[in-house]
Amino acid sequence: MLPRPQTKIFLDSANPQDTKVVLDLLGFLDGQTTNPSLIVKVLGENVKVSESEMLEFYKTNVQKIANLIPQGSVSIEVYADDTTSPEDIYHQATTLSQWIPNAHIKFPTIPNALLAAEKFLADGGRANFTLVFTQAQALAIHLLATSCGVNKGQVFVSPFVGRLDDIGQNGVDLLQNIQRMYQELNSPVEILGASIRNLNHLQYCLDINLDIVTLPLTVIQQWIDQPSISYVPQPLTPIPYENLDYSVSWQDVNIDHPLTTKGLLKFAADWKSCLN
Ligand code: G3P
Repeated sequence: MLPRPQTKIFLDSANPQDTKVVLDLLGFLDGQTTNPSLIVKVLGENVKVSESEMLEFYKTNVQKIANLIPQGSVSIEVYADDTTSPEDIYHQATTLSQWIPNAHIKFPTIPNALLAAEKFLADGGRANFTLVFTQAQALAIHLLATSCGVNKGQVFVSPFVGRLDDIGQNGVDLLQNIQRMYQELNSPVEILGASIRNLNHLQYCLDINLDIVTLPLTVIQQWIDQPSISYVPQPLTPIPYENLDYSVSWQDVNIDHPLTTKGLLKFAADWKSCLN
C-alpha cells in the first residue's frame, strides 16, 4: 500500500466498480468526482434511455459509490447548457444533493450557475465549481463563497490541468497561481486538481500539497507501479501569476473562458447523446 499523502485523493469516475478497485489498490479513497460524460460512459455505447431513466441510473451509481466511501465526498454534476436558467440549476442542485448525504454539487463556472450556487451555498449546500481555466474564475468563486459565509470543506474549485496543456499552456501553473492567491486571501475554498492525465501532473499536485486531486483509474494504477517519481517541467507556455483586484464583488469578475464554454457544451452533448 502507498503511504497516504497530505493531498486528498479522489477518483474521477462515475463507476462504482472503479471505486472498489481503487479501495483494493490504495486501501483508502477520500472522494469521487462524476460528470455527465463519465456517467454516459458507465451506461455504455449506443444505449438509449429516457431522461428520467438516465437520472435514475446516475442516482443508483452515485448511491453505490457513496455507500463504498461513506466518509468521502461524492461530486454530482447538474445538467446545464448555455440556455439553462439559474432557477433550473438551483432546483437540480437541491434535488441531486438529496441523493446521498455526502454530496458536493458540481456547478459549471458560468454566470447562471454561479447565481444558482449563491442561493444553494446560502442554504448550506456543498459545491464543487468545475471547468475552471483562469485565476479570475477562481477569484470569483472565492468572492461568491465568502459572501455566503461558507465553511472550509464546503466549496471546491476544480481547475482543469490537462485541457490547458492541450492548448499549449502549462496547466499546473494555474494550480500554483490559485493556491498562492487563496493563501493571500486566507480562502476557505479548497483546490481540487482535475483533468489529471499522468503521473507528472499528480506528482506536481503532491509536491505543492494541493488540497485535493481527482485521478482517473488509469493514473491510480500507474501510481501503484511507480509510487515515487520526480516532477519534470514540461515545454509548455507558462501561465503568469496575476495581481487581481480583490475588492470587487464576484459579479464584477470576468469569468469567461472559451474552454469553459466548450467543456459545458461537450458535457451537454454527451448527456443528450444517450437520450431517446
Ligand atoms: O475531472 C475532470 C475530468 O473528468 C476531465 O478530464 O481528461 O476530459 O480533460 P479530461
